[in-house]
Amino acid sequence: MHKIAVLPGDGIGPEVVAEGLKVLNALSENYSVKFDFQEFNINSERYLSTGTLVTEEDIAQLRKFDSIFLGAIGDDRVKPGVLEKGILLALRFSFDQYINHRPAPLWKPFGRLKRDVDFNIDVFRENTEDYYIGAGGRVTGGKGSIDMRVKRHLYDMKVRLDANADAADDFAFEIGMMSRKNIERFADHVIDFSNLIGENYITVVDKANVCSNIYSLWREVWDEKCKRAGKEHGYMYVDAMTMALVKNPDKFRVIAVPNMFGDIITDLLAEVTGGLGLAPGGNINPKGISMFEPVHGSAPKYKGMDRINPIATILAAKMMMDNLGRRDLGDVIFKGVRGAFDKGVYTQDLGGKATTKQMGDAVVAAIHALK
Ligand code: IPM
Ligand code: MN
Repeated sequence: MHKIAVLPGDGIGPEVVAEGLKVLNALSENYSVKFDFQEFNINSERYLSTGTLVTEEDIAQLRKFDSIFLGAIGDDRVKPGVLEKGILLALRFSFDQYINHRPAPLWKPFGRLKRDVDFNIDVFRENTEDYYIGAGGRVTGGKGSIDMRVKRHLYDMKVRLDANADAADDFAFEIGMMSRKNIERFADHVIDFSNLIGENYITVVDKANVCSNIYSLWREVWDEKCKRAGKEHGYMYVDAMTMALVKNPDKFRVIAVPNMFGDIITDLLAEVTGGLGLAPGGNINPKGISMFEPVHGSAPKYKGMDRINPIATILAAKMMMDNLGRRDLGDVIFKGVRGAFDKGVYTQDLGGKATTKQMGDAVVAAIHALK
């Protein structure tokens, strides 16, 4: 029995999660697997009516589950950053999900490149540090102090910034930070994954030519880890990387990238594979509770219209099965998606006519047909 906490979230989140659950239920009808789903209303509605984001109590409840299955978080009525940091990032950090795995295989025939080029990339985005630590603040009139705190499973750090400028202006700071131990465990995971798929080369992305403090530590650890593991690696600056992902995505197989740049290049790459509607992600803690979600957001303007592509969420369910040790069932979901596409069923974002529900139904039918 797999205990799954289900967080449909905001906007179109509940619609795509419903299709993901439909597909997981199709697995338990056809194969020996059982799920215990429990839904949580950790979302913008709860925030707007009660003012609560993620609470200690939520975390304690969620700890009882094997995995978290998430739709999307985000709402136009709330100031940017409140829900993102207070819910999504709070969950990633609370469960120490230091890896964000975002697979990006070409989805034929939906690839957006003019040239016919085949590729299959796995992006590993660092998920708890970098410019995402939420440390920073304002000093007004050129003078002031900012007290910051970064609390993670690996450390609890207090940082104080004293600013004293010779110009009476307002200044804003956003501090980026990386720690050796976190980069080490992240690199270990990426190296393990490349061993698993028999890939000997890792492309490591950064901007070490400008942010040379933070990314020289990053490179130092990658050099050490790859040397010890006998793994080949090379560095790409993120600007060149965005270009290369459009120009020659077939040159890459495994990519490791810091949090902020990873956020950006995975949206770009999702579009190259066929569209954001096809891109899943796993927030992974190899020894703890992982959380699976589509890369896309809550798309409030499409809420309730039954037109959003549920495939990213269905593929997030596939990643969840892989992570729960059922790669056989992950494979069934993958084949179900492929089978539905091969029958010509796809949603409007891909140029098709299927509704959200019809897309989910087609994947379920393809799964039944595999038996
Ligand atoms: C993503 C999202 C989040 C991120 C936001 C909503 C905090 O864009 O999962 O890619 O930046 O990680
Ligand atoms: Mn993003």
